[in-house]
Amino acid sequence: MSRYIVFANRKGGCGKTTTAVNISYIFAAQNKKVLLIDLDPQAHATLSLNINPDPERPNIYHLLDKKASFKDVVQRVVPASQIISNLPNDPKQDRIKVDNLYIIPSSRNLSVVEISGPKFSGDELYLAEILHNNASEFDYVIIDPPPSVGILSVSALVAAKEAYIPMPMHFLAMEGLAEMTRLIYQINATWNPELKLYGIIPTFYNKNTRIAKEIASDIVKTFGAKSLAPPIRQNVALAEAPGHGTSIFEYAPDSIGAEDYESLANFIEAKGDNF
Ligand SMILES: Nc1ncnc2c1ncn2[C@@H]1O[C@H](COP(=O)(O)OP(=O)(O)O)[C@@H](O)[C@H]1O
Ligand SMILES: [Mg+2]
Repeated sequence: MSRYIVFANRKGGCGKTTTAVNISYIFAAQNKKVLLIDLDPQAHATLSLNINPDPERPNIYHLLDKKASFKDVVQRVVPASQIISNLPNDPKQDRIKVDNLYIIPSSRNLSVVEISGPKFSGDELYLAEILHNNASEFDYVIIDPPPSVGILSVSALVAAKEAYIPMPMHFLAMEGLAEMTRLIYQINATWNPELKLYGIIPTFYNKNTRIAKEIASDIVKTFGAKSLAPPIRQNVALAEAPGHGTSIFEYAPDSIGAEDYESLANFIEAKGDNF
């Protein structure tokens, strides 16, 4: 059975896209068939995997606007480093090649969907319906929503079963966490009873700061120790990899970013068996 995962947080810059791209990549490298859905008009996930966010080519906008079919918009990912070889530390030997990573790319025309909102009541269910009818061949369907709470993010939460909230460990991020958990419970109580909060992922983590320890202990108190995912430390290679059109596992396989995302992938994988 496919697992439907969303990395959600209304705030921008908290590591949603970085997490969606790298987790999709490592699962694909572990021979899982993965579909990454870029639901953000900024198309950062699309760009991070070296795909041109061309508004003229079939993308998520055309799918949601019923101008293209599921098959028309799904594209296989060929990371940049498999085409050209100019990576700084050129990890040729360790390079992880994937051939079972697929994406539904985004482009800026998707913003029309967000701005005009649902045209008909029930539009929020449309993405879920398409995926549940067409994506059963994938082991993982991973959704990267935009930093807002409009129809796109709601559609993502209606389509997903497992929500993970990436959050930087600072005080103001707690308020975003409270808002996201309320939204998840709301959607669980209405559109999608299968949606559950599976984990909170500390991002830009620095274990030496007092605030990081305090927030982590608050999360454990409120949501239980099983909800606290392994943290992703601040690591410049994570910010550089998208510029090379690939994941951290190809760009810098020996970095702490690669190590942290591998631990997170193990955590998510294990959650499938014992939520
Ligand atoms: N652990 C990290 N260390 C360093 N930079 C990071 C890390 N995670 C994300 N970044 C960078 O921070 C910025 C915001 O991350 P992103 O994943 O795009 O957030 P979101 O999708 O929530 O807006 C991006 O430039 C990204 O490359
Ligand atoms: Mg993003």
